[in-house]
Amino acid sequence: MRRWRWWRWLVCASGWVALVYVFFLAFVTLVSLTNPTLTRPYSPPAEVVGARGTWSWASRRLGRGARLPWCQPLRWRDPPGPVTALVSFPGSGNTWVRYLLQQVTGYYSGSVYKDYALMKNGFPAESVSNGSVVVVKTHEWGPEMRKGFSRAILVVRDPYLAIQAEFNRQSGGHIGHAQPDKYTRDGGRYWEKFVTNKALAWMNTTLDWLKFEGPLHLVFYEDLLDNLPEEMRRILEFLDLDVSESNFDCMMRHLDGIYKRRKRPLSFDPFTPKLRALVDRCKQLVERAVREVLAGGDVNVVLNNMNAFNFSFGHHKPVVR
Ligand SMILES: *[C@@H]1O[C@H](CO)[C@@H](O)[C@H](O)[C@H]1NC(C)=O
Ligand SMILES: *[C@@H]1O[C@H](CO)[C@@H](O)[C@H](O)[C@H]1NC(C)=O
Ligand SMILES: *[C@@H]1O[C@H](CO)[C@@H](O)[C@H](O)[C@H]1NC(C)=O
Repeated sequence: MRRWRWWRWLVCASGWVALVYVFFLAFVTLVSLTNPTLTRPYSPPAEVVGARGTWSWASRRLGRGARLPWCQPLRWRDPPGPVTALVSFPGSGNTWVRYLLQQVTGYYSGSVYKDYALMKNGFPAESVSNGSVVVVKTHEWGPEMRKGFSRAILVVRDPYLAIQAEFNRQSGGHIGHAQPDKYTRDGGRYWEKFVTNKALAWMNTTLDWLKFEGPLHLVFYEDLLDNLPEEMRRILEFLDLDVSESNFDCMMRHLDGIYKRRKRPLSFDPFTPKLRALVDRCKQLVERAVREVLAGGDVNVVLNNMNAFNFSFGHHKPVVR
């Protein structure tokens, strides 16, 4: 009898100890999940950001609930204006231009996509593609896509940098970079396939929008970096929008927003001679077509003559001269 009671006490006591321990663990877990200082996303250390060739858009620092200092309260365009596309290959500064336009005009910018991260971080008009927004972001191409717009701004960036920016976004997530070993994954075939596919997509996107029949405004990303005020004034002129000098100055004081990937150069050149040959050929064809469009020529004639699409598609080793 006595012995039995003693054991019962022991069992009962250890039961309580275990229970308290479980509650303690649950409490600690709950606190660490809700305490923002413990769950804040990785933020790279502050450093001086190099300018040229480093712009690319990814959520930095804040993430959820970030509040941007807007120059003026954002609003719909009312009455609505022409439906205007803001076209680019990914990784070419599309989100940056949208951000600058929202700052300087005070109008929402829209998108053919619904990116929830962007929606929560200063672009509430994601998925709106009509005249109530100042421009509509798209990376798509083809006659069906073009048909939905009455004017277009086409942003073109050097394909080497655009492809790498896109690789960083897809492999390293919103804030990061692709780890160097991503480039050698699967004997380098993964990267090779990526570049081949993206170089052709870069060319397709650009050549296709050069055929746009309505008013088309070409912007080179590198020019934006070199001479932002001038390029922004040209864009506003194309959009036929007057903005006050104070809003323009305000935009110039808030160039970064929260979306900007920091420069982190690789210690090696990921573009093999074979990949360079392909990217260079795409670049040459696009340059020729751009020159023709800027000279007022018929881009269709040029495109038909230059055999732009005579690559062996769907093949990992494209035929390049
Ligand atoms: C554009 O779309 C938004 C959201 O769907 C809507 O509120 C607005 O009225 C539309 N504007 C026009 C001009 O259709
Ligand atoms: C580029 O366009 C060509 C011709 O229309 C097409 O065959 C190819 O699949 C496209 N490639 C990419 C990556 O968009
Ligand atoms: C495409 O290029 C190959 C060699 O690069 C050539 O033999 C072929 O005739 C070309 N095709 C067309 C339609 O021009």
